Amino acid sequence: MVIAMNAQLSRLVDKVAVVTGSTSGIGEAIARAFAREGALVVLTGRRADLGERVMRRIIDDGGQAAFVPGDLTLPETRQAVVSAAVERFGGLDILVNNAAVARFAMTDEVGEDDFDRMVTLNYKAAYFMTQAALPHLLSGRRSRIVNIGTLGAVKSWPGASVYNSSKAALESLTRTWATEYGPGGVCVNMISPGMVADAPMSQPVLAQLDVDTQILSGVPARRLCTTDDIAAAALFLACADADYLHGVRLPLDGGLTA
Ligand SMILES: NC(=O)c1ccc[n+]([C@@H]2O[C@H](COP(=O)([O-])OP(=O)(O)OC[C@H]3O[C@@H](n4cnc5c(N)ncnc54)[C@H](OP(=O)(O)O)[C@@H]3O)[C@@H](O)[C@H]2O)c1
Repeated sequence: MVIAMNAQLSRLVDKVAVVTGSTSGIGEAIARAFAREGALVVLTGRRADLGERVMRRIIDDGGQAAFVPGDLTLPETRQAVVSAAVERFGGLDILVNNAAVARFAMTDEVGEDDFDRMVTLNYKAAYFMTQAALPHLLSGRRSRIVNIGTLGAVKSWPGASVYNSSKAALESLTRTWATEYGPGGVCVNMISPGMVADAPMSQPVLAQLDVDTQILSGVPARRLCTTDDIAAAALFLACADADYLHGVRLPLDGGLTA
């Protein structure tokens, strides 16, 4: 594990946050936004070179971060992430379940390997990451779980059966966890983005579409979501302003589902 520190005070000052899947894309944007607001951030993902690069960027921005490399589908990785938060930063206040994988194919063409890959990371790993974090989230400090879902869980398209249903399962967990752990001081909520302009997962899909006619014509905001939009929403759900929000799915779809 690599660790680096610097000081900056703001909305998440002294809060310890774990952001899964923070080696790139949306997770990186959330981690950097949290660190700018004073959080002590534990980054994780399999690509150590990228994770360390994100950590360095956080340091350069004046933040504090540690990076734990590993595959989140393995129990030992999840435990190492929690241990890093507790041993290096003294606890755990915020868990962002962001790591996910998408493979798109029609249902009659989906292989069991891809099915297992998506369900094991998007649903099962988020479930047991949360289980590993809960003893610390419930330790008396007001804490947060922010799950990253997808618009596709409520408005689907052909070829996304496994990905979208894995995220629908996470959305259901969001509500269940809100009922189970809200009384213990944990606010559990979900962000549900539409297609993101500048995140890796959407690039293969965007490359095959005429964005203006096939997406934006149905989006009142007339633009795609950005990683900055998601980081801002995650920051809101993680800070004291969202203290009375429990079990909410926050749609970041520019009004597509309005
Ligand atoms: N992009 C979109 O349009 C969009 C829209 C709605 C929702 N989302 C959601 O936003 C989140 C991030 O997506 P993104 O577009 O930013 O894609 P991304 O850059 O591919 O992010 C996925 C992250 O998950 C990590 N990851 C993948 N497999 C892992 C594993 N086995 N163990 C540990 N970490 C693993 C990746 O890190 P490593 O490869 O280093 O392990 C990466 O950091 C996902 O939950 C996605 O479902 C995306």
